[in-house]
Amino acid sequence: MTKKSSHMFCIAPMMQYTDMHDRYLLRLISKKVFLYTEMIATGSLVYGKCFDQLEFNKEEHPVGVQLGGSNINDLVECSKKCEQYGYDEINLNVGCPSDRVQKGKFGACLMLEPKHVAECLLNMQNVVDIPVSIKCRLGVDNYESYEFLHNFVSIVSQSGVTTFIIHARNGILKGLSPRQNRNIPPLKYDYVYKLKKDFPHLEIVINGGIKNLDESETHLKSVDGVMIGRAAYENPFMLKDVDSRFFNKESCTESKKQVLNKYFEYVDRQLENGHDLARMMKHLFGLSRGDKHAKTFRIKVLEVIKDKQLQKHKKDLEELLVY
Ligand SMILES: Cc1cc2nc3c(=O)[nH]c(=O)nc-3n(C[C@H](O)[C@H](O)[C@H](O)COP(=O)(O)O)c2cc1C
Repeated sequence: MTKKSSHMFCIAPMMQYTDMHDRYLLRLISKKVFLYTEMIATGSLVYGKCFDQLEFNKEEHPVGVQLGGSNINDLVECSKKCEQYGYDEINLNVGCPSDRVQKGKFGACLMLEPKHVAECLLNMQNVVDIPVSIKCRLGVDNYESYEFLHNFVSIVSQSGVTTFIIHARNGILKGLSPRQNRNIPPLKYDYVYKLKKDFPHLEIVINGGIKNLDESETHLKSVDGVMIGRAAYENPFMLKDVDSRFFNKESCTESKKQVLNKYFEYVDRQLENGHDLARMMKHLFGLSRGDKHAKTFRIKVLEVIKDKQLQKHKKDLEELLVY
């Protein structure tokens, strides 16, 4: 197995969740986890000129940007832009099964076009110096054999891309919502383990249904990295010991209260920059997870959002956290 992969512990890209504020919060808890942006559709950059989506905090490094698209010219143009913004990596989304994304002919449906995916990745790599990676599924619809996945990776890796993040489920393109597509198709971790055996030179990162650090450690016996999405969003403090357990660095020494206060300082700064209070506050819901007053804390966060007023609630929120 590749030793000390930079992707040993990653946070999954999640639309509406892993925005720059959430990533800043997570970075207060772990200095080492690899962060990803939400998926950014190339069309919204190339034609919509929505470049504010690319904004991130310098504290977030290492941070990759995830692009969704399949038009080679657009992907090339966006890759150059992302590199200029200072991202550490560009990731191509080949896993999103939503109808909107399918209409745009990108995301999970590209699992059926490995040659085109390879061409996209080759062209992206040709115009940037930062690494380009891919996040994909095991297969789509009835293409659910290990051979299908093996063939996909075999063709796509000819582009020179070496980091494959695999959501260990099939994507169902018709009949399941994106949410159902994250829960209903069965997890097949054994496919991902086998992939690492068959392609030992590739960096294989496993994703899907991983709940905690113990499970992560088990996966890391068979693959190079783990990626966690929902469990880390719902309980960001689960990341507290990631740096010591996986990176040989000191654990986060801050208490939840200290993390909260540092995040408040950040929120105050970003309010001055015109960022929205509700968008920043919602990421705090999970911080009290497991605490005695977790529910009251969450209600208080909602109150802040409703009141559009943080200052007068700061002390109460801090006192509701256990330590
Ligand atoms: C709300 C939400 C939004 C998501 N958005 C994206 C996305 O933008 N790009 C992507 O590759 N995956 C996206 N995903 C899928 C996650 O990255 C991940 O593959 C999936 O949640 C399985 O991992 P988990 O079980 O650790 O959450 C999203 C998941 C959720 C819950």
